[in-house]
Amino acid sequence: MIPRPFAEMASVGVAVPPRVLTNHELTGMLDTSDEWIVERTGIRERRIAAPEQSVAMLSQEASELAMERAGVSPADLDAIVLATASPDRLLPSTACDLQALLGADNAAAFDVGAACPGFVYALTVAEGLIASGQSRTVLVVGAEKLSTITDFQDRSTAILFGDGAGASIVRRSSGNGRGILSTFIKSDGRLAPLLYRPGGGSSDPISERVVCERNHFMKMAGREVFKAAVRAMAEACDEALRRAGVSAEEIDLLVPHQANLHIIEATAKHAGMPMSKVMVNVDRYGNTSSASIPLALDQAVAEGRVKPGSLILLVAFGAGFTWGSAVVRW
Ligand code: ACO
Repeated sequence: MIPRPFAEMASVGVAVPPRVLTNHELTGMLDTSDEWIVERTGIRERRIAAPEQSVAMLSQEASELAMERAGVSPADLDAIVLATASPDRLLPSTACDLQALLGADNAAAFDVGAACPGFVYALTVAEGLIASGQSRTVLVVGAEKLSTITDFQDRSTAILFGDGAGASIVRRSSGNGRGILSTFIKSDGRLAPLLYRPGGGSSDPISERVVCERNHFMKMAGREVFKAAVRAMAEACDEALRRAGVSAEEIDLLVPHQANLHIIEATAKHAGMPMSKVMVNVDRYGNTSSASIPLALDQAVAEGRVKPGSLILLVAFGAGFTWGSAVVRW
């Protein structure tokens, strides 16, 4: 087998809606408090997209930034792999809508449904497309409008989620040492009932009953998800490091899925990494599912915490259950 890296992450770009929804505003809608939310989750505010702002539009803004930073034009894209748990429509894929918005006429475009680790799954697919010779330049996107599938009458989930998009240009390795050194993805479908949307799909199509029962919104068993998440994040850390042949001490920055500060802290503890080497911005955006890793990575790059040559560990878990990780030399 040809040694890695086959592919490198050439850039990252993000977009978030301007509307900020604070914990204090939520206390006016739900029986909750800023103190409870901050203490249990670390979240202080999240972004909410306007009704007319689609996932494809958020993705376009993030993608154009990522393309500009990598010096890539829409015609250079061979594939668009878009991860989302909140697609604009059930048919066609949001990736196809994004392709049209970008004018990426040479690309194949499709969605990946893997919930919160969607960005890591999409990165893995992109690396595979490049390794097989199918593609040279792939646009990887994680984008969500979770506010449309969140039940704002359910205090156990309404406090957690937010909207946003992140994108990365992944291209054939230029042989300068940077690149994707390992990826790991895994799932356990038996855990699906812990976090799911019961209605609105083809098993229980959208109907007056589905809407009345609020079954088109996410349902979650928070405590069980928490425990499974801590286990999944630990395994994902270990596997990505093992496959890359690097130790946790060699990692410059851990960039975890931003779901809950306590899950992030447990993951860092398992990996034996101090919190000073962990990127946290769950306080600003809440859980943005597949957008969460690129949103954290982009902030880390902007703050100079990730520089050319930095070794980073991406790790995420989510509905499915799905989990995944990657070690990347930036
Ligand atoms: N404000 C005040 N009280 C609340 C709130 C709230 N927003 N939500 C729940 N409570 C109450 C509960 O009703 C319960 O009250 P009771 O003891 O009287 O019954 C009490 O707080 C404790 O509830 P728990 O659910 O046990 O609280 P916990 O400490 O587990 O925190 C939380 C809940 C924050 C949801 C936590 O379980 C969690 O973060 N779980 C992981 C969730 C997650 O990461 N999901 C995303 C997965 S990724 C994806 O793919 C989308």
